[in-house]
Amino acid sequence: MALSALDRRSVIPLYYQIQQRLLDQIRSGALKSGEPVPSELEIAAGLGVSRMTARQALKSLCDLGITYTQRGKGTFVSANKLEKNIRQVLSFTEEMRTRGLRVDSKVLCFQAVPAVEEIAAALHAASGESLVKLHRIRLADSCPMGIECSYIPQRLCPDLLESFDASTSLYQTLSERYGIQMAFADEVIEAAMAGAQEARLLRIAKGSPVFIFTRVSCVQTGRPVEYVKSTYRADRYKIAHRLTRLNRELLA
Ligand code: GLP
Repeated sequence: MALSALDRRSVIPLYYQIQQRLLDQIRSGALKSGEPVPSELEIAAGLGVSRMTARQALKSLCDLGITYTQRGKGTFVSANKLEKNIRQVLSFTEEMRTRGLRVDSKVLCFQAVPAVEEIAAALHAASGESLVKLHRIRLADSCPMGIECSYIPQRLCPDLLESFDASTSLYQTLSERYGIQMAFADEVIEAAMAGAQEARLLRIAKGSPVFIFTRVSCVQTGRPVEYVKSTYRADRYKIAHRLTRLNRELLA
Protein backbone atom coordinates (compact mmCIF):
# COMPACT_ATOMS: atom_id res chain seq x y z
CA MET A 1 0.00 0.00 0.00
CA ALA A 2 1.60 3.28 -1.12
CA LEU A 3 1.49 6.35 1.11
CA SER A 4 1.80 9.69 -0.66
CA ALA A 5 5.12 11.53 -0.31
CA LEU A 6 5.77 13.73 2.70
CA ASP A 7 6.18 17.47 2.65
CA ARG A 8 9.64 17.94 4.11
CA ARG A 9 9.49 21.74 4.08
CA SER A 10 6.31 21.81 6.13
CA VAL A 11 6.37 22.76 9.81
CA ILE A 12 4.12 19.75 10.42
CA PRO A 13 6.28 17.01 11.96
CA LEU A 14 6.99 14.06 9.69
CA TYR A 15 5.56 11.52 12.11
CA TYR A 16 2.31 13.47 12.18
CA GLN A 17 2.13 13.61 8.39
CA ILE A 18 2.57 9.83 8.31
CA GLN A 19 -0.08 9.40 10.98
CA GLN A 20 -2.49 11.52 8.89
CA ARG A 21 -1.79 9.52 5.73
CA LEU A 22 -2.45 6.27 7.54
CA LEU A 23 -5.62 7.74 9.02
CA ASP A 24 -6.78 8.75 5.53
CA GLN A 25 -6.30 5.16 4.39
CA ILE A 26 -8.34 3.92 7.36
CA ARG A 27 -11.09 6.50 6.89
CA SER A 28 -11.37 5.79 3.16
CA GLY A 29 -11.69 2.07 3.84
CA ALA A 30 -8.46 1.24 1.98
CA LEU A 31 -7.32 -0.19 5.33
CA LYS A 32 -10.12 -2.05 7.09
CA SER A 33 -10.46 -3.07 10.73
CA GLY A 34 -8.40 -6.15 11.49
CA GLU A 35 -6.06 -5.53 8.55
CA PRO A 36 -2.33 -4.94 9.12
CA VAL A 37 -0.95 -1.44 8.71
CA PRO A 38 2.49 -1.07 7.07
CA SER A 39 5.33 -1.99 9.38
CA GLU A 40 7.92 0.39 10.77
CA LEU A 41 10.41 -0.90 8.20
CA GLU A 42 8.00 -0.54 5.27
CA ILE A 43 7.10 3.01 6.25
CA ALA A 44 10.73 3.96 6.80
CA ALA A 45 11.85 2.51 3.44
CA GLY A 46 8.76 3.65 1.51
CA LEU A 47 8.81 7.25 2.71
CA GLY A 48 12.54 7.70 3.32
CA VAL A 49 12.23 8.47 7.03
CA SER A 50 14.06 7.05 10.02
CA ARG A 51 12.65 4.01 11.78
CA MET A 52 12.21 6.18 14.85
CA THR A 53 9.89 8.55 12.95
CA ALA A 54 7.94 5.60 11.53
CA ARG A 55 7.69 4.10 15.02
CA GLN A 56 6.43 7.39 16.45
CA ALA A 57 3.71 7.54 13.78
CA LEU A 58 2.61 3.97 14.49
CA LYS A 59 2.67 4.54 18.23
CA SER A 60 0.54 7.68 17.93
CA LEU A 61 -2.19 5.69 16.14
CA CYS A 62 -1.98 3.01 18.79
CA ASP A 63 -2.23 5.62 21.55
CA LEU A 64 -5.41 6.90 19.93
CA GLY A 65 -6.84 3.38 19.93
CA ILE A 66 -7.08 3.43 16.14
CA THR A 67 -4.64 0.54 15.83
CA TYR A 68 -3.31 -2.12 18.14
CA THR A 69 -0.15 -4.21 18.12
CA GLN A 70 0.17 -7.91 18.53
CA ARG A 71 3.59 -8.93 19.70
CA GLY A 72 5.54 -10.66 16.94
CA LYS A 73 2.73 -10.13 14.43
CA GLY A 74 2.50 -6.42 13.70
CA THR A 75 0.09 -3.52 13.98
CA PHE A 76 -3.55 -3.82 12.94
CA VAL A 77 -6.52 -1.49 12.48
CA SER A 78 -8.80 -1.61 15.53
CA ALA A 79 -12.44 -2.48 15.30
CA ASN A 80 -14.90 0.37 15.66
CA LYS A 81 -15.95 1.28 19.19
CA LEU A 82 -17.21 -1.69 21.14
CA GLU A 83 -20.80 -1.52 22.20
CA LYS A 84 -20.88 -1.89 25.98
CA ASN A 85 -23.59 -4.29 26.95
CA ILE A 86 -25.27 -2.76 29.97
CA ARG A 87 -28.25 -5.07 29.99
CA GLN A 88 -26.41 -8.12 31.27
CA VAL A 89 -23.92 -8.81 34.02
CA LEU A 90 -21.03 -10.02 31.92
CA SER A 91 -17.41 -10.47 32.84
CA PHE A 92 -14.76 -8.65 30.86
CA THR A 93 -13.55 -12.02 29.58
CA GLU A 94 -17.03 -12.98 28.35
CA GLU A 95 -17.59 -9.60 26.70
CA MET A 96 -14.32 -9.71 24.81
CA ARG A 97 -14.49 -13.39 23.88
CA THR A 98 -17.92 -13.04 22.31
CA ARG A 99 -16.31 -10.47 20.05
CA GLY A 100 -13.47 -12.79 19.18
CA LEU A 101 -10.89 -10.67 21.01
CA ARG A 102 -7.98 -12.04 23.04
CA VAL A 103 -8.17 -11.08 26.71
CA ASP A 104 -5.18 -10.09 28.82
CA SER A 105 -4.89 -8.46 32.21
CA LYS A 106 -2.05 -6.60 33.83
CA VAL A 107 -2.32 -6.89 37.59
CA LEU A 108 -1.55 -3.65 39.45
CA CYS A 109 -2.53 -4.83 42.92
CA PHE A 110 -3.97 -8.02 44.40
CA GLN A 111 -4.06 -7.99 48.18
CA ALA A 112 -6.24 -7.83 51.28
CA VAL A 113 -7.21 -4.33 52.44
CA PRO A 114 -9.50 -3.03 55.21
CA ALA A 115 -12.86 -1.78 53.92
CA VAL A 116 -13.26 1.99 53.88
CA GLU A 117 -16.71 3.21 54.90
CA GLU A 118 -18.19 3.86 51.43
CA ILE A 119 -17.21 0.44 50.08
CA ALA A 120 -18.14 -1.34 53.31
CA ALA A 121 -21.64 0.19 53.10
CA ALA A 122 -22.06 -0.86 49.47
CA LEU A 123 -20.99 -4.42 50.30
CA HIS A 124 -23.01 -4.62 53.53
CA ALA A 125 -19.70 -5.23 55.28
CA ALA A 126 -18.34 -3.82 58.50
CA SER A 127 -16.03 -0.85 58.22
CA GLY A 128 -12.46 -2.18 58.41
CA GLU A 129 -13.50 -5.72 57.37
CA SER A 130 -10.95 -7.45 55.17
CA LEU A 131 -11.60 -7.15 51.44
CA VAL A 132 -9.69 -8.61 48.54
CA LYS A 133 -8.65 -5.73 46.30
CA LEU A 134 -7.98 -6.57 42.66
CA HIS A 135 -6.74 -3.72 40.49
CA ARG A 136 -6.10 -4.58 36.86
CA ILE A 137 -5.60 -3.12 33.41
CA ARG A 138 -7.85 -5.07 31.05
CA LEU A 139 -6.63 -5.56 27.51
CA ALA A 140 -8.30 -6.84 24.36
CA ASP A 141 -5.98 -7.89 21.55
CA SER A 142 -3.18 -6.08 23.39
CA CYS A 143 -5.07 -2.78 23.50
CA PRO A 144 -5.80 -1.47 27.03
CA MET A 145 -9.57 -1.05 27.20
CA GLY A 146 -10.00 -0.12 30.83
CA ILE A 147 -8.81 -0.24 34.40
CA GLU A 148 -10.89 -2.16 36.93
CA CYS A 149 -10.56 -2.07 40.67
CA SER A 150 -12.72 -4.66 42.44
CA TYR A 151 -13.29 -5.28 46.13
CA ILE A 152 -14.75 -8.56 47.41
CA PRO A 153 -15.29 -9.50 51.08
CA GLN A 154 -12.54 -11.94 51.94
CA ARG A 155 -14.88 -14.05 54.07
CA LEU A 156 -16.72 -15.07 50.86
CA CYS A 157 -13.57 -16.37 49.20
CA PRO A 158 -11.06 -16.99 52.00
CA ASP A 159 -8.22 -18.41 49.89
CA LEU A 160 -8.72 -16.30 46.75
CA LEU A 161 -5.39 -14.56 47.25
CA GLU A 162 -3.54 -17.88 47.22
CA SER A 163 -5.60 -19.77 44.66
CA PHE A 164 -6.48 -17.25 41.96
CA ASP A 165 -4.24 -16.33 39.04
CA ALA A 166 -5.20 -12.66 38.94
CA SER A 167 -4.50 -12.36 35.22
CA THR A 168 -7.37 -14.76 34.44
CA SER A 169 -11.17 -14.47 34.80
CA LEU A 170 -12.32 -13.44 38.27
CA TYR A 171 -15.97 -14.30 37.62
CA GLN A 172 -15.07 -17.76 36.40
CA THR A 173 -13.05 -18.47 39.54
CA LEU A 174 -15.72 -17.02 41.84
CA SER A 175 -18.28 -19.25 40.19
CA GLU A 176 -16.25 -22.46 39.93
CA ARG A 177 -14.40 -22.31 43.22
CA TYR A 178 -16.81 -20.53 45.53
CA GLY A 179 -20.18 -21.03 43.82
CA ILE A 180 -20.61 -17.26 43.59
CA GLN A 181 -22.63 -16.39 40.51
CA MET A 182 -23.38 -12.78 39.80
CA ALA A 183 -27.10 -12.41 39.16
CA PHE A 184 -27.60 -8.65 38.89
CA ALA A 185 -25.73 -5.43 39.44
CA ASP A 186 -26.44 -1.80 40.17
CA GLU A 187 -24.28 0.40 38.05
CA VAL A 188 -23.73 4.14 37.73
CA ILE A 189 -22.01 5.51 34.62
CA GLU A 190 -20.27 8.88 34.60
CA ALA A 191 -18.11 10.73 32.11
CA ALA A 192 -14.67 11.92 33.18
CA MET A 193 -11.27 12.91 31.87
CA ALA A 194 -8.32 10.57 32.29
CA GLY A 195 -5.86 11.73 34.91
CA ALA A 196 -2.12 11.45 34.32
CA GLN A 197 -1.77 7.99 35.84
CA GLU A 198 -4.87 6.53 34.17
CA ALA A 199 -3.81 8.02 30.86
CA ARG A 200 -0.42 6.36 31.13
CA LEU A 201 -1.92 2.98 31.99
CA LEU A 202 -4.52 3.20 29.23
CA ARG A 203 -2.04 4.59 26.69
CA ILE A 204 -4.16 7.65 25.94
CA ALA A 205 -3.46 11.35 26.27
CA LYS A 206 -4.05 12.92 29.68
CA GLY A 207 -7.49 14.53 29.71
CA SER A 208 -8.98 12.08 27.17
CA PRO A 209 -12.61 11.19 27.83
CA VAL A 210 -13.31 8.04 29.80
CA PHE A 211 -16.38 6.35 31.23
CA ILE A 212 -16.40 5.60 34.95
CA PHE A 213 -18.59 2.64 35.87
CA THR A 214 -19.27 2.11 39.56
CA ARG A 215 -20.92 -1.24 40.04
CA VAL A 216 -22.13 -3.33 42.92
CA SER A 217 -22.67 -6.90 41.76
CA CYS A 218 -24.96 -9.21 43.72
CA VAL A 219 -25.86 -12.87 43.83
CA GLN A 220 -29.45 -14.11 43.43
CA THR A 221 -30.27 -13.66 47.12
CA GLY A 222 -29.47 -9.96 46.82
CA ARG A 223 -26.23 -10.21 48.75
CA PRO A 224 -23.63 -7.79 47.31
CA VAL A 225 -20.34 -9.54 46.55
CA GLU A 226 -18.30 -7.12 44.46
CA TYR A 227 -17.79 -3.37 44.49
CA VAL A 228 -15.94 -2.28 41.40
CA LYS A 229 -14.85 0.99 39.88
CA SER A 230 -13.96 0.73 36.22
CA THR A 231 -12.43 3.35 33.97
CA TYR A 232 -13.04 2.58 30.32
CA ARG A 233 -11.63 4.38 27.31
CA ALA A 234 -14.37 6.42 25.64
CA ASP A 235 -12.60 6.08 22.30
CA ARG A 236 -13.04 2.30 22.46
CA TYR A 237 -16.54 2.06 23.93
CA LYS A 238 -19.99 3.30 23.22
CA ILE A 239 -23.00 2.52 25.34
CA ALA A 240 -26.18 1.18 23.84
CA HIS A 241 -29.35 0.29 25.64
CA ARG A 242 -33.01 -0.24 24.89
CA LEU A 243 -35.65 2.25 26.02
CA THR A 244 -39.28 1.31 26.20
CA ARG A 245 -42.44 3.37 26.47
CA LEU A 246 -44.36 0.79 28.49
CA ASN A 247 -45.94 1.32 31.92
CA ARG A 248 -45.93 5.09 31.64
CA GLU A 249 -48.96 5.13 33.95
CA LEU A 250 -46.57 4.19 36.77
CA LEU A 251 -45.04 7.66 36.48
CA ALA A 252 -48.38 9.44 36.83
C1 GLP B 1 -16.56 -6.85 34.22
C2 GLP B 1 -17.13 -6.16 35.42
C3 GLP B 1 -16.22 -6.22 36.63
C4 GLP B 1 -15.71 -7.62 36.86
C5 GLP B 1 -15.07 -8.16 35.62
C6 GLP B 1 -14.65 -9.60 35.80
O1 GLP B 1 -15.64 -6.08 33.56
N1 GLP B 1 -17.44 -4.77 35.14
O2 GLP B 1 -16.99 -5.84 37.74
O3 GLP B 1 -14.79 -7.63 37.93
O4 GLP B 1 -15.98 -8.11 34.55
O5 GLP B 1 -14.03 -9.98 34.63
P1 GLP B 1 -13.20 -11.30 34.49
O6 GLP B 1 -14.08 -12.43 34.90
O7 GLP B 1 -12.80 -11.34 33.06
O8 GLP B 1 -12.01 -11.17 35.41
